[in-house]
Formats: sequence, structure tokens, C-alpha cells
Amino acid sequence: RKPLTTARLKKMKQAGEPITFVTAYDYPSAKLAEEAGIDVILVGDSLGNVVLGYDSTLPVTLDDIVYHTRAVVRGAASTFIVADMPFMSYHGSIDHTLQGVARLMQEGHAKAVKLEGGAEIAHTVEAITNAGVPVVGHIGLTPQAVHQIGGYLIQGKSSEQAQKLLADAKALEQAGAFAIVLELVTEELAAWISKELTIPTIGIGAGASCDGQVLVFHDLLQYGSAPAPRKFVKVYANVGETIRSGIAQYVQEVKARSFPGPEHSFHMDDEVAAYLYG
Ligand code: KIV
Ligand code: NA
Repeated sequence: RKPLTTARLKKMKQAGEPITFVTAYDYPSAKLAEEAGIDVILVGDSLGNVVLGYDSTLPVTLDDIVYHTRAVVRGAASTFIVADMPFMSYHGSIDHTLQGVARLMQEGHAKAVKLEGGAEIAHTVEAITNAGVPVVGHIGLTPQAVHQIGGYLIQGKSSEQAQKLLADAKALEQAGAFAIVLELVTEELAAWISKELTIPTIGIGAGASCDGQVLVFHDLLQYGSAPAPRKFVKVYANVGETIRSGIAQYVQEVKARSFPGPEHSFHMDDEVAAYLYG
């Protein structure tokens, strides 16, 4: 299929064609997402929560994202792959930030990077864009700032907050971002921002008016993630239950000596067996 580009994403917005993002973190998840026809794969730092078992995204390192991005690219070589810049990897000097971006592109083989934040990081977005690297913005609930925000709370409910988020979105667009993730904002605000921007908005918990949607792989497939999904997640399959019951049956059959069966076993030639066992 035709590899996706940032220009194509903008055309999809203009044409009103919804854009699909999903996260993936390894070879099989990326391969399955590509085979399913996803537009963009995000190697999100949600990796920390759903794959590495941390209780936030803060412990995720640049090494982690590089390592997982490499695996994702091997699994989905024809898909546009965005890698998250992890916590504190883009708030120091521009030189330091660009070194991290370079690793994600050169070692991870990502096609773009994503950063959390609004107007306050616009200069950073501009520097990365000027280096020839496409950037996705991310505003609303930004999980790397969870301790400042005080929880995974819906953002932009007051008109003051909404104005600020619109200004952030415009600053990111102005700085060269080619798309912006809107996380946990009201449907009304997401619709407003989407209308005001020429670049696509990609929503998660942001309603149906965004130009695209993103969900976390493990959430939409119930693959070992929280048993009670949050309101904005739709569960499309219960992979976790399939895996659990598959392993439980394997355990039970080994205990009962019904696995392996004759069809799973290898045999010597009769004369060798006769020699060995007399
Ligand atoms: O890390 C992640 O999965 C994300 C998405 C929720 C947008 O940033
Ligand atoms: Na993220």
C-alpha cells in the first residue's frame, strides 16, 4: 500500500476522512496493527503503564522508546510510525533535545516524534521541525505532567482553560506541528480546536469531532490492562481473557498428562527403538 505522509494526513482532514492511530510497542502488535489497516502507529510512552508495569509514564527512558520503536518498525515497515519523546527528554537545551530526536530517528527508525505541551514548548517544536523531523503535538491531559495536574482529569472545562488550550494548539500549529493529539478534553472544545486548525487533531477521550482517533493497544483489546476500562475506551476484543484461558488450559493438560499427545511427539525408527529398549 502507499506509505502515508504528513501531507496525506492534512488532505485526509480536508476531505473529512477520519485518521486512525493506535499504539504499538513490539513486533507482533505492530504487525497486527499494520495488517488491520491502521494509518499511523504511535510508540507511546504509555509503554510504561501497559508493557513495563509502571504506574505512570514518568519512568520511561529514551532507551526504552528507541528499543521498542526498532521492534515496531520491524513489524510494520509500511506504516507511518511516530515515537514519543519521554519525560524530561525535551525540556533542557535544544541541543540535548535534538540529540534525543536523532536517536529516535536514526536508531529507532521512527518517521516523526510526539511531545507533550503547548505554547511553552513551541520553540522546541520549531527547532525539531527545522531539523526536518515531523512533530506531533499533545495537549489537554498530558500524562507526563500528572503530578502537576493532580490526576488523570478532564481538561478545558472552563472557558478560560478552553481559550488557553486553543491558543496552545495554534502555537503548535504555528511552530510546525503536523498533527495534535487532544487527550481528555470535552467534545465541544475538541470540535472548536479541530475547526480552527488546518492540521489534523487526533483525539483520545475527546469526542467524535476530532479529525482522527487514537487508542492504546492494550486498552482496546483488553490485553492485560485495567479490567474496568475508562469511559473513553471502547473494548473491541478481549485478548487478555483469550490468553489467560489458553494458558490455563495448557497448564491443566500438562498436569493431566494429556499434552503432549502422540501427534506432538517425535519417534525413532523401529529398529533403533528396539535396540535401545531391547
Ligand atoms: O503514550 C500514549 O499512548 C499516548 C497516546 C495516549 C496519545 O501518548
Ligand atoms: Na504518550
